[in-house]
Amino acid sequence: MTKSPLRIAVLVSGNGSNLQVLIDKQNQLNIQIVCVISNKQNAYALTRAKNANIPTFVIDKDDNGKTYKRIEFEKKALEILRKLQPDLVVLAGFMKILTPLFINGVNNELNIAMINLHPSLLPHYKGLDTHKRVLQAGEKYHGCSVHLVTEALDAGAIIAQAVTQVRHNETADELQNRIHQLEHTLLPMVVGWFANGLVFFQGLSSDVLDIKSDIGMLPIKIWVG
Ligand code: GRF
Repeated sequence: MTKSPLRIAVLVSGNGSNLQVLIDKQNQLNIQIVCVISNKQNAYALTRAKNANIPTFVIDKDDNGKTYKRIEFEKKALEILRKLQPDLVVLAGFMKILTPLFINGVNNELNIAMINLHPSLLPHYKGLDTHKRVLQAGEKYHGCSVHLVTEALDAGAIIAQAVTQVRHNETADELQNRIHQLEHTLLPMVVGWFANGLVFFQGLSSDVLDIKSDIGMLPIKIWVG
């Protein structure tokens, strides 16, 4: 008997190339993207979702044209998730920092994992402008991480990382493009693990969250030349 697809909610803010990879691999990974939620009206990710007949929700500006406050955004987004009951929330280029209201709502109330894609080898280079900072520091290696979202920014348990060597004289844009390509491999890989029950979420208590794996010790690292 085939297992029913893992229901995924994806949060986006921009281009959505990572979302596109998940859309294209829905059958292969045995996932179903049940909604795409954007905090930006003009995110190209919304067009990608619509083209694939995936329900989209924009929580950007109110009727007076004022951008929703963080908490308002979160309440509305949680309401959507409560209705759709996904099995996993994926932040794919979602650029708003989330508060405990939303994070606890997902982890404790819905009791599901929320994962984020971050363009650095966490725990190093949290936050923005990672590629530029990596080059400035003269790092030998760079990459991207998929980690659990917890209250501390970019600090939840790391599930997997793709690692590559920084090239001589590489610009920040070139490095960014290469890391972006790695993300397109890493994110579907991790989502596939969730869909196959190889990695699963364990909410231990209201403030301790953990992730368990049947595929070895986490984080799994992939080295790319
Ligand atoms: C990625 O680089 C991701 O690491 C960061 O935002 C970017 C999203 O790219 N959090 P895209 O919108 O999926 O093309």
